[in-house]
Amino acid sequence: MTQLSIHGYGDDLTINGIRLGDLSPADHESIEKEKGGRNYNPLENVVVSHVKDSSTLICRKPSSDETRAYIEEELIDGLCCYSAVNQGQLNQTIVDAVVHHLTVDKLPTVPRSIRHKYMAAFLLAVTGITGMDRVVPKVAGVEAPDLMFKIARRWGYRVKGIPQNEAIIVAANGNFHGRSMTAISMSDDPDSRNDFGPFVPGIEMVPFNDIDALKTLFEQKGDKIAAFLVEPIQGEAGVIVPDDTYFPQVAELCKKHNILLAMDEVQTGFGRTGANFAHQLFNVKPDLLGCGKAAGGGILPVSFVAGRDDVVGVLTPGSEGSTFGGYPLAAVVSVYAIKVLVDQKLAENARTRGAQLMQHFEDIKSEFPDKIKEIRGRGLLTAFEMFDAPYLDGHKVSLGLLKNGVYAKETHHSTVRLAPALTIQAWQIDNIAEAIRGVVKEL
Ligand SMILES: Cc1ncc(COP(=O)(O)O)c(C=O)c1O
Repeated sequence: MTQLSIHGYGDDLTINGIRLGDLSPADHESIEKEKGGRNYNPLENVVVSHVKDSSTLICRKPSSDETRAYIEEELIDGLCCYSAVNQGQLNQTIVDAVVHHLTVDKLPTVPRSIRHKYMAAFLLAVTGITGMDRVVPKVAGVEAPDLMFKIARRWGYRVKGIPQNEAIIVAANGNFHGRSMTAISMSDDPDSRNDFGPFVPGIEMVPFNDIDALKTLFEQKGDKIAAFLVEPIQGEAGVIVPDDTYFPQVAELCKKHNILLAMDEVQTGFGRTGANFAHQLFNVKPDLLGCGKAAGGGILPVSFVAGRDDVVGVLTPGSEGSTFGGYPLAAVVSVYAIKVLVDQKLAENARTRGAQLMQHFEDIKSEFPDKIKEIRGRGLLTAFEMFDAPYLDGHKVSLGLLKNGVYAKETHHSTVRLAPALTIQAWQIDNIAEAIRGVVKEL
C-alpha cells in the first residue's frame, strides 16, 4: 500500500517529507516536468508564492546565494489569470463572503437534484446583471461555449425546424473557446487540434470581422445554421477588436436568417472591456451569452450560459447538468463577484485605467515606431503588436518584463497582452508602462 504523509499549511505544507518552503524554482520545475502533463510551458525561473495586494504577487526567483533556495520579489500582475481576477486578487468582499458563508452560515455542498436556497440568489443576480431571462450554471469557462453549442443545436431542431443531425454552428477564424473536443473542433489553431481528431461535425468557419463572408455563408446555408458562436473581441488571438459596425450588422443578419447570436464573453465579460459585457460596447444583445473566469471572482471556477427564455427554454431535465455547477459555494461566490463588479464600478475603472494604459502604449509606439506595429484594446483588455522580426520577440519581452517586476505573457510571436485587475491603481499602470518602455528599448 502507498504510504503518503501530508501535513502543514502554506510553506509548511509537506508531502512525504518534501516541504514547499524548501523548494527552489528549479525544484518546482523538475517536479512539474517529471510528474505533470507537460501541457504548459510556464515562464522560466519564477514561482508565484502569494498575494501582496490586489494587483501584486510575491514570487520566488533563483538565489545567487547558495544558502537560500530562492529570493522573493514583487510582481505586478499584468494578466490577472487571463481575466479571471478582474475583481483583484483576494478581493476582500468576496473572501469575507466565502469565509462567512462557510463558517457562520454552514454552507452545504449538495447537487442540483435537491433545491438549495443560494440558487435563487445566483439566478436573481445573474439575470439582473446580464438582462437575460434564464441562466444555467457551469464550472469551467470552456463549458459555456460548449453548452451554447448544445443549446443552439437543440433550438435549431426543435424551434427553427432544421432536419435532425444537420444543424450547423458557425465560428470565427482565430477564435479561442477553450480545450474541450467541441471547442477545438471550432478552432483553427494547429497546436490545439493536431492528432485530436476526429472532430465534432457541423461547424463552418468564417473570417472574424468580415460581414460579407458571413452574409455569403448565411445566404448559402442559412436554413441549416443554428447559431453564430463568436467572441465580441478575440482575446487569445491577441486582442482583435472588430469594427464598430460589425456586430450591429451581424445581429441584423442573424435576425434576418433566424440564426442565434451566441457570444462567448468568458474573457471579455465582467467589466474587462469597459462595459459590464463587451456586447454592450457594440449595442447588440446576444440570444445566448457565455461567461466564465471573473464570474467566479478569481476565487472559484464558475461559468454560466444566460439567454432568452425561448432559447435556453429548450433544455429539459436530464438534457444538461453539472455536479458543481451552481452548488452553494459557487452560487455565493458568483453573487459576490457580481456585487463587486457593480459596487466597485469595475467597468468604469477599466475605462479610466485602460485609457491611461493605451496612452502609454501610444507614447511608446511614437518613441519606437520601427518596433511597435500596432496597439489594440478596449478597457483593460489591451495588447501591443511588434513588427515581424526575429529580434522583436514577444517571449523575450515577457522575460524582460518579469525581470522588471511585471507579469505579462506574449500571445503568438510578436504580440504582448496586458490585462491587469480592474481594481489596479494609476501608479501601477505607470509602473507597467515604464517596464514595457525599458524592455522595448533594449530589443
Ligand atoms: C473566450 C474564451 N472562451 C473560453 C475560454 C476557456 O475558459 P477555461 O480555460 O476557463 O475553460 C477562454 C479562456 O481563455 C476564453 O478566452
